Amino acid sequence: MAENLFVPNTFDRKKIYDELAPQIAALVEGETDLVANLANIAAALKEAFGFFWVGFYVVKENQLVLSAFQGSIACTRINFDQGVCGHCFTTQKTIIVPNVEEFPGHIACSSASKSEIVLPVFDKNGSVAMVLDVDSDALDDFSETDAQGLSKIAEIITRLI
Ligand code: SME
Repeated sequence: MAENLFVPNTFDRKKIYDELAPQIAALVEGETDLVANLANIAAALKEAFGFFWVGFYVVKENQLVLSAFQGSIACTRINFDQGVCGHCFTTQKTIIVPNVEEFPGHIACSSASKSEIVLPVFDKNGSVAMVLDVDSDALDDFSETDAQGLSKIAEIITRLI
């Protein structure tokens, strides 16, 4: 397992995602514990981009339950019909929220979070097993580049579950 993360010194997020994806694949290779792998992935994303919060909510007991994350404390359970995470789960689509205050039903775990992207992570049968939630303390911080880069990382997780 690689123990040091190489992050290119650039503001070009596509380049960073391109460098990060194979490193994340190497990081989780040979480790069977899912939470250990999700924890390292959250840490790698936080370190590479300096996002405010990065974490996973897994589908459990008919809810989304907080799993590995990096950042400040967060709400532990989200109903499928609640928040950006619930919306992502029910629509099974990536959601970019440029301004969280304008998203009806947004759950504010921290007032510092200003924009957000949430992606579904599918299992091998095509069901949503968890969502990947990334928050920024800047408005309008996420674009299609993040959606594509993070979806490659979601695909790595699919291979683990
Ligand atoms: N904002 C999310 C809740 C999770 S926190 O951002 C960590 C939502 O509306 O679902």
